[in-house]
Amino acid sequence: MPSTATIAKAKVAPTKAAPRGTISHMMKHARILAAFALAPMLALAACETTGDSGMSGGEGGGWVYASLGREKPLLIGHRGASGALPEHTLEAYQRALNDGADCIEPDLVFTKDGVLVARHDTFLSTTTNVATKPEFASRKRRSPDPEFQDREDWWVADFTLAELKTLRAVQSFRGRAKVFDGLYQIPTFDEVLQLAKSRQTVAGKPVCVYPEAKSPAYHAQIGKADMAEKILAALDKHGLGAKGAPVFIQSFEPDFVEKINGMTDVSVVMLVADRAGYDGAMARPGAPFWDGLGPNFSLLIDADGKSTGIVEASHAKGIPVHPWTFRDDVPVKGETPESTVRKYLALGIDGFFTDFPITGYKVRNDVQFGK
Ligand code: G3P
Ligand code: CA
Repeated sequence: MPSTATIAKAKVAPTKAAPRGTISHMMKHARILAAFALAPMLALAACETTGDSGMSGGEGGGWVYASLGREKPLLIGHRGASGALPEHTLEAYQRALNDGADCIEPDLVFTKDGVLVARHDTFLSTTTNVATKPEFASRKRRSPDPEFQDREDWWVADFTLAELKTLRAVQSFRGRAKVFDGLYQIPTFDEVLQLAKSRQTVAGKPVCVYPEAKSPAYHAQIGKADMAEKILAALDKHGLGAKGAPVFIQSFEPDFVEKINGMTDVSVVMLVADRAGYDGAMARPGAPFWDGLGPNFSLLIDADGKSTGIVEASHAKGIPVHPWTFRDDVPVKGETPESTVRKYLALGIDGFFTDFPITGYKVRNDVQFGK
């Protein structure tokens, strides 16, 4: 049986001249797939108990997908298992792994003293108990972040790491469990990487880390250190900075994506929120200068239920597609959370972000392409 990497390369190998960047995209993608194929013996035991074959193709229990190389799509715990626990906490990341995620996803911002911490927002009021802390009452101020003009809040960049560690995370989504509010700290990126390195997935594979650089231009504007250098240094420190490491670095800012992709051999993902963002990134000189595409999932299927062609166009260049964000409690009209994930798997996505990895795990492992 050919190796996982061989399958991936063979399925997307061009027959004529490759589009610019195709070969390097394929090789980088194949390296990542190969890294995930490095399952220790424990994986076999795990597969026997979970029904997760860990293989693609074949008959009698092998799972076959419509993804690049027919590989099993990556299950990415979005902000951890944020549907169950307060987002971006070590506990939420651990829960994502317990629930079957291959990857954990820390969004990263800088503290006042230049430490990368896991927060989705540059402000604190919605995901922490900062508003209940009298010692920080005077810190509330108008936004320094152009993305949130006129917002009055507490800003991560105004707090040292030591101060942030006195806060506790809260569930920010209406309708989700609040019983875990006030229990968990804001983790540093370093702590997230330590967690990843000290654990394995339910299939016994290395934990994949999928960090997002949040607002790199804003952080540069307020005088913070270079985000790309800091992220790569942290990855190197934990042995996750080299070719084939189970890492995907992501950003919505094309300048940042292009820059960091020139600084590292790990995979870099271009995030796009809407069609204008996709078209704008694709129109830039040298595009696609990314190793993976991370679109809002609504960009991939039109109102008639047909593919918009983005997955096919990306796959034609050997670039995997990882859409976001699937949420059990925000269902697509007329669909169940399961049927939505199944529909996108049939489209050929190569991975997906979900707040509810336990649902994604179940659906992903039940799907057999073409049935
Ligand atoms: O990074 C993928 C997805 O998380 C992008 O959306 O806003 O949740 O970071 P956001
Ligand atoms: Ca994110």
